Amino acid sequence: MKNKTVVETAVDIETRDMTADDLEDVLSIESVSFPIPWSEGMFLEEMKHSFCHDLVGLVGGQIVGYISFAIVYDEIYLRNLAVHKDWRRRSVASKLLSTMIDISSGMGARYGTLEVRKSNKAALGLYKNFGFVVKGIRPSYYSDTGEAALIMWADF
Ligand SMILES: CC(C)(COP(=O)(O)OP(=O)(O)OC[C@H]1O[C@@H](n2cnc3c(N)ncnc32)[C@H](O)[C@@H]1OP(=O)(O)O)[C@@H](O)C(=O)NCCC(=O)NCCS
Repeated sequence: MKNKTVVETAVDIETRDMTADDLEDVLSIESVSFPIPWSEGMFLEEMKHSFCHDLVGLVGGQIVGYISFAIVYDEIYLRNLAVHKDWRRRSVASKLLSTMIDISSGMGARYGTLEVRKSNKAALGLYKNFGFVVKGIRPSYYSDTGEAALIMWADF
């Protein structure tokens, strides 16, 4: 049998505000994406605040990823971002990040900041594509492994 090369292509991804009804799907992605996942209560608390924004990304009506960020004056703080394992490398996170930047720019934000595990090559590659550069390090930041967090910064 001949070897076949399968090329995964980008898909149509819609975004909308996250609601409490989305949390079952969101938490199922969260629980397998992070060693210290956010709880339902943390998402609900997040959604209460006017400066916090939580979006889901959907393909054909199915939640495939989400992003949480805060806008304070002219700065965006990226707080959470994950994509369903079956939907990774299909530009879902890129769509969520570009939507975050569009919304935030429309509200006057000019800068972005985030923390990322030093070993998280996927996220580092993604953020660099959006102009984030490493500006600092927080040693022993993550309580599970003691790993350092890199502080990234972008001017939009
Ligand atoms: C990081 C994460 C959000 C990326 O989501 P994604 O939808 O797969 O990302 P995209 O398809 O938009 O990828 C955009 C770019 O990111 C980089 N990237 C993504 N996954 C990568 C991987 N596994 N290895 C190396 N680079 C990767 C690449 O530069 C990629 O561009 P390319 O596909 O043109 O090479 C996803 O892997 C994830 O949910 N990880 C677990 C949770 C997490 O680490 N969140 C970030 C916390 S700071």
